[in-house]
Amino acid sequence: MLSWTDTADSVETTAAPIGGRVRVDDKAMINCRADVNQLLPLKYRWAWEKYLAGCNNHWMPTEISMQADIALWKSPNGLTEDERRAIKRNLGFFAASESLVANNIVLAIYRHLTNPECRQYLLRQAFEEAVHTHTFQYIVESLGLDEGELFNMYREVPSITGKAAWAIQYTQHLSDPLFETGTTTSDQAFLRDLIAFYVVFEGMWFYTGFAQILSLGRRNKMVGIAEQYQYILRDESIHLNFGIDVINQIKNENPHLWTAAFQAEVSGMIRSAAELEAAYGRDTMPNGFLGLSAGLCEEYMHFIANRRCGQIGLTAVFAPTENPFPWMSEAMDLKKEKNFFETRVIEYQNGGSLGWD
Ligand SMILES: [Fe+2]
Ligand SMILES: [Fe+2]
Repeated sequence: MLSWTDTADSVETTAAPIGGRVRVDDKAMINCRADVNQLLPLKYRWAWEKYLAGCNNHWMPTEISMQADIALWKSPNGLTEDERRAIKRNLGFFAASESLVANNIVLAIYRHLTNPECRQYLLRQAFEEAVHTHTFQYIVESLGLDEGELFNMYREVPSITGKAAWAIQYTQHLSDPLFETGTTTSDQAFLRDLIAFYVVFEGMWFYTGFAQILSLGRRNKMVGIAEQYQYILRDESIHLNFGIDVINQIKNENPHLWTAAFQAEVSGMIRSAAELEAAYGRDTMPNGFLGLSAGLCEEYMHFIANRRCGQIGLTAVFAPTENPFPWMSEAMDLKKEKNFFETRVIEYQNGGSLGWD
């Protein structure tokens, strides 16, 4: 029978500490030999702060009333056919995407990110992705939607399949138990996966989806789903910023990975991801609705893509463009957001600080 020690010794990522106590300087993002079971002393305070921010933002989809959405969805004239098509495809895209992101964290990223404070955040993020997946189950159940239709869209609707297949190519070999970081080739594969999921999936593709639903919410349509999307957006903006910090930290510690050829490849990834998103926009909004159109969404994607390039130190891949949806910045700027965010955070913090007596 294996003892705990035998198990630990047999797994590289739980290797025993080198040279006695862990020093901050022993810690590194990837290929680290310091003990990953020991959180303190912290080296990357930004990772710990994001973990705390995530905990302070706790929410559950079932706290949000779906009554108004149910009434509108069931009313024959409540929504146009274009709006219904966009809503269903939007839900179908997110329903599978949240699971794809969660599986990427647990099966591909976690093992190779050899830093305990980053892993602490990944554990929190993985739970948040579970909450997001729960949100789509709750919406499907509340509105009485065809779960088979929605949850199979990532395999059956080409504009959604295209995005899922693009992302899966970057995660599948990392989840192979034989995959190890430690060479330039494998470390670059790991960076590619981080870019595909944090920068593209969560940082680009989710944003058209948020714009579609929040545009409806601004016009008082599907307000329950819109509120859930605001919570998801708040979570996702931390996921994105964590990913950007991880990528930049790995670059700083391993500058040999960030070659001109690799940068050109990443720019190409971002360009092709924007094209896939444009196809999704044409498919979900063939006629446009509520001030949204496929053309405007493509412009928005170019704006977002350029911004993401700047965040990871790349030059912009598209011509400079204005943000066609300036109201999205307001939806993201929680200080300007209506009180329910603040109220809820305070409620949770109060709840968390109650004693057991
Ligand atoms: Fe998510
Ligand atoms: Fe996420």
